[in-house]
Order: sequence, then C-alpha cells, then structure tokens
Amino acid sequence: MRTLLSIVINTVPPDGAPGLYICHCNALTDTDIQQAAAQGACRPREVYDACGCTAQCGSCTRRILALLQEARIEQAAEPALVAAMD
Ligand code: FES
Repeated sequence: MRTLLSIVINTVPPDGAPGLYICHCNALTDTDIQQAAAQGACRPREVYDACGCTAQCGSCTRRILALLQEARIEQAAEPALVAAMD
C-alpha cells in the first residue's frame, strides 16, 4: 500500500516537474513506470510489483505497455549513443 508521502515523493522527479499519472487506481506516474523499467520490469504486473501495488481496474495496462516499450527502445539505444560519442 502506498502512503500519501510516498506518492508525493515518487511523483516529483529530481528536476521538480510532476510526473504524469498513468495508473489512477494506484497513483502511478510515468516516472514510477520508467523507474520500474530501469529496474528490469518488462510487464505491467512487474511494474505493479515494483511499485508495491496490484492491478485494480486494468485500464492503464496499454499505457504501461507503451511506456515499457519506449523504455526498452531507449535502453537499447543508450549503448549506441555512448559509443557514438566516444
Ligand atoms: S488505472 Fe491502473 S489499475 Fe486502474
């Protein structure tokens, strides 16, 4: 169960801009999902697990999948970008 404090902390990225709510049932933002993806989450269920919650209505699943796909593309491109800068 997420506390109000953890929701506030997790929705304010270091640059101060608030995250975009993706899962309203669990108050998960795009930042939460990106962090879960960086920790290895590949499926919505793994995102919920990483965030300490479970699917409720499931209406966010497609958006979570899209963000996970974006994260995978960025993770795959990162080594190529670093190599190009060397
Ligand atoms: S919006 Fe994510 S489970 Fe309902």
